[in-house]
Amino acid sequence: MRAKIIGTGSCLPDRSVTNDYLSTIMDTNDQWIQSRTGIRERHLVSSQQETTLSLAVNAAKAALTDSGLLPEQIDLILVATVSSDYITPSAACMVQKELGAHRAVSFDINAACSGFLFALNTVDAYFQAGIYQTALIIGVETLSKIIDWSDRSTCVLFGDGAGAVVAKASEGGMIASLQGSDGTGGDILTCKNRTNNNPFVSTDANPDYLYMNGQEVFKFAVKKVPECIQSLLEQAGEDASHVTYYLLHQANYRIIASIARKLKLPIEKFPSNVDHCGNTSAASIPILLDEIHKEGKLSEGDLIVLSGFGAGLTWGAALLQW
Ligand code: COA
Repeated sequence: MRAKIIGTGSCLPDRSVTNDYLSTIMDTNDQWIQSRTGIRERHLVSSQQETTLSLAVNAAKAALTDSGLLPEQIDLILVATVSSDYITPSAACMVQKELGAHRAVSFDINAACSGFLFALNTVDAYFQAGIYQTALIIGVETLSKIIDWSDRSTCVLFGDGAGAVVAKASEGGMIASLQGSDGTGGDILTCKNRTNNNPFVSTDANPDYLYMNGQEVFKFAVKKVPECIQSLLEQAGEDASHVTYYLLHQANYRIIASIARKLKLPIEKFPSNVDHCGNTSAASIPILLDEIHKEGKLSEGDLIVLSGFGAGLTWGAALLQW
């Protein structure tokens, strides 16, 4: 039995912030941001009521409704995030409580922008082993709280949001998957946790924020992702042209276009929402999947490739049948 997606949902914060608005609070402009990234606007949390948990729960409820399953029918909840509200309990346990999904084993996965894909692969492995039959997988971020708002080269890139899917152990669904990590490249995209100030360590360190070497991340993505997708399709014995859509992590439209060119595939096979969501890290793939599903663009039997890449470094891809 493999993981078959039977429902999708998403939630974006109420407030949409345009490039033009950002240009009123920092030294930037719409032309610079759009030409380098394709981003026009992003949604950002704008009240104490909008949290990683609230976005995750809203996306999860929508996915459950779409799937027809009830919270108590879910065996496993995985939340992919690097911006949980609490260090502990996990976001997954908090979602479990809010939903009343009392049977579900719940834990978080930290694989940055590859997190949703790693969570999907983990669920698929549990299903193949026959351990669980139903799962709720959520990618959620409120990166706006860990972004350095004085660093214009990173803060304009990111958005907040959540996407969720419900998966069921089934004969169809997941066909093949690949994932990889390279910790030696980890220092190009980092955010340090709180500094130890126990009685034996003296520190005056300030809280850390997201740091990114944008050009190195760009080079990593445009090299690694096409290689990963090619290996995935070889493994599955599938022709790239038979895949209806390639849903890539939505970091930057130039990265997506470059990957499409390298794979010699038409850009129409690469739907994108980076223009209105920005980079929502672990949430980007399930938000995009929910958008194209709700727009009626997916038909039963369609082949879809999902591919994520990001901090760690981490990357991965999955081929599945809708
Ligand atoms: N507005 C206006 N100017 C800006 C700016 C902003 N928001 N941010 C940076 N600049 C300026 C820089 O200061 C620099 O000016 P200078 O030449 O006078 O020093 C100039 O723009 C070029 O900066 P640079 O960093 O070389 O830009 P770039 O062409 O490499 O583009 C990124 C920067 C971040 C857009 C690009 O590297 C990128 O997309 N990287 C991948 C990031 C990503 O996807 N990360 C997530 C992966 S999960």
